[in-house]
Amino acid sequence: MLEVRGVERSFGRMKAVDGVDLTVAKGTITGLIGPNGAGKTTLFNLIAGSLAPTAGEIRFEGHAIGGLSPDRIFRLGLARTFQIPRPFPGMTVLENAMLVPLQQAGERFWNNWFRPGTVGGQERASRQRALEVLGFCGLGDKLALPAGQLSGGQQKLLELARVLMIEPRLILLDEPAAGVNPTLMETLVDKIVALNKQGITFLLIEHNMDLVMRLCSPIVVMAQGKVIFRGEADGVQRDAAVLDAYLGDVPA
Ligand SMILES: Nc1ncnc2c1ncn2[C@@H]1O[C@H](COP(=O)(O)OP(=O)(O)OP(=O)(O)O)[C@@H](O)[C@H]1O
Ligand SMILES: [Mg+2]
Repeated sequence: MLEVRGVERSFGRMKAVDGVDLTVAKGTITGLIGPNGAGKTTLFNLIAGSLAPTAGEIRFEGHAIGGLSPDRIFRLGLARTFQIPRPFPGMTVLENAMLVPLQQAGERFWNNWFRPGTVGGQERASRQRALEVLGFCGLGDKLALPAGQLSGGQQKLLELARVLMIEPRLILLDEPAAGVNPTLMETLVDKIVALNKQGITFLLIEHNMDLVMRLCSPIVVMAQGKVIFRGEADGVQRDAAVLDAYLGDVPA
């Protein structure tokens, strides 16, 4: 579904992403782990269009997407959440979800709701979908709350709800569990599993190893801009290069 080939991105003289090959197979929850500064978020930025690669190729369902705008990539059905949630804090939870431009998401959902020529049809469709996805994400009782008043964990769920507005086929999640309390984390895990069963593929960055081991197969490990391991949970814990990368990261 996603193919990354020889992708590079430099910042000055530093190669934050250094010749990465990565494939994400349809239907998987693929984990992407690695120590701080490994280049994981930079790779997400390259895949989702926030940054252009300095070399290499990125394909999503066969389309070459490297260097396309985030908006184009989103409309192709590839959505991402941010390591630090970015809601509009003064707008309500419902408004934040409704801001996602539905009409560009393709026809499937749209045809169900949109009645051509009806003033307000677009907004009704958007509201309807927002109510669905916010309810699914457990935010149904927070609709009128300014998004800035949500807890960190609830903001992560709002991020998920926002990407679900367009019915994406691949979702990139950047540290969905960071700063999330254990109860909300279970909710988040349940939602990811449920969405995956519905056919949505995930690529997930996470430092919470318990969550990664439970949820992800396969697991890809990055360190210093390179992929150093690809395999299953049992293998990752025994791999010498992976242990090395993590131990090297422990402050003295
Ligand atoms: N816009 C930027 N300009 C300059 N350097 C950057 C930029 N973005 C990232 N970097 C650097 O690139 C390297 C990789 O950063 P990145 O954020 O991709 O790491 P990460 O694996 O996501 O780490 P973490 O687990 O801490 O989120 C780091 O050394 C970082 O300082
Ligand atoms: Mg990061």
